[in-house]
Amino acid sequence: MDNTTADTSWNLLVRRDDLSTAELADAPVPQVRDGEAWLRVDRVGLTANNVTYAALGDSFRYWEFFPSPRAGWGIVPLWGFGDVVASRVEGIETGSRYYGYFPSASHLLVRPDRVDERGFREASPHRVSLPRPYNAYALTTGDIAYEAGREDLHVLFRPLFWTSFMLADWLVDNTFLGAKTVVLSSASSKTAYGAAHLLKGQGCEVVGLTSPRNLAFTEGLGCYDRVLTYEDVSRLPRTPTLYADFAGDEQLSARLGARLGDLLVHQVVVGITNQEPAPAGTLAETGPAMFFAPDQMRKRIGDWGREGLDHRFADAWREFLPVAEGWVDIGHSSGPQSLKRVWHEVQSGRTSPRTGHIITP
Ligand SMILES: NC(=O)c1ccc[n+]([C@@H]2O[C@H](COP(=O)([O-])OP(=O)(O)OC[C@H]3O[C@@H](n4cnc5c(N)ncnc54)[C@H](OP(=O)(O)O)[C@@H]3O)[C@@H](O)[C@H]2O)c1
Repeated sequence: MDNTTADTSWNLLVRRDDLSTAELADAPVPQVRDGEAWLRVDRVGLTANNVTYAALGDSFRYWEFFPSPRAGWGIVPLWGFGDVVASRVEGIETGSRYYGYFPSASHLLVRPDRVDERGFREASPHRVSLPRPYNAYALTTGDIAYEAGREDLHVLFRPLFWTSFMLADWLVDNTFLGAKTVVLSSASSKTAYGAAHLLKGQGCEVVGLTSPRNLAFTEGLGCYDRVLTYEDVSRLPRTPTLYADFAGDEQLSARLGARLGDLLVHQVVVGITNQEPAPAGTLAETGPAMFFAPDQMRKRIGDWGREGLDHRFADAWREFLPVAEGWVDIGHSSGPQSLKRVWHEVQSGRTSPRTGHIITP
């Protein structure tokens, strides 16, 4: 096994208290030791979800996955593919390709555990107490979901579609908690429209709320029964309603409450595209519940078994992918400056919902 690492290495650092400030910084290239592998980050996606990881970096421990060398700054996690460039782990071959959670950086050093033909679990001490799904790396040759020609769609949609799928499933499983209408904000986001796609025709009216500039795009998707702009909350139907909040905009929630009163039967926070996390503790204690996909996953593993859940997800994914392919224009870019530029673009909300950013760092 090879342990040479001739590459240079760098990180994109983001100020934790001001996500609009980002800097590229050289990083030391480590000597790969026994039990370690060094991966080059090859292809990652960047959407509002990654900005949310940063906005919730402290409270949800997202900053802990890839520790920053500089105090007050963080390395934002991204989903994507990486190639092994050096390995001193039995079963991890140089040149093999893995899908998983990667840093905004050129490389990642891992300490793999439970290595088999399907992948490995990252077991570096700083990651063992972090949520398990983020520590799993899937070997492309052992992953039934992998399609070489669709890596971009995989990177962009797959982590988001798990949440779309579990949210839609939770709603149907609970008969929409008595609601006749489901309202989703940030309706132009991939996670929201994935859920809307799954909810269409399930017995509830699905209404999308979006900003005026994204109205035409969101209407064009055809997965919402009705699309309104944020200004048009007063036109929401006065029927029992469940609000799935992807925007995290407190004023919008208040206007929805004012319009619907007791007809607002339930509210669940799925995202915070507005990047304003509720002050620590307040959400759970006084505000609406946070939707936590692993809770519904656990419930369904109990109902269907892990394989049953995976098969149902795979069926939904196979059906969704060709549809979603028509909803996104992939924008490719490469190099550290591109990663920094795309970070600024997505973080500032300038990206069109039609664009899916894929970067080769
Ligand atoms: N709970 C979970 O497990 C989970 C899992 C996946 C995703 N999510 C969350 O779902 C949300 C959407 O993520 P995504 O990756 O699907 O998003 P995306 O496809 O990148 O969505 C982009 C949309 O978000 C809104 N937006 C983006 N930047 C904004 C900004 N700076 N200010 C205000 N609005 C902005 C705009 O929608 P509008 O104009 O329509 O508002 C924009 O079209 C994120 O908050 C993400 O963290 C949660």
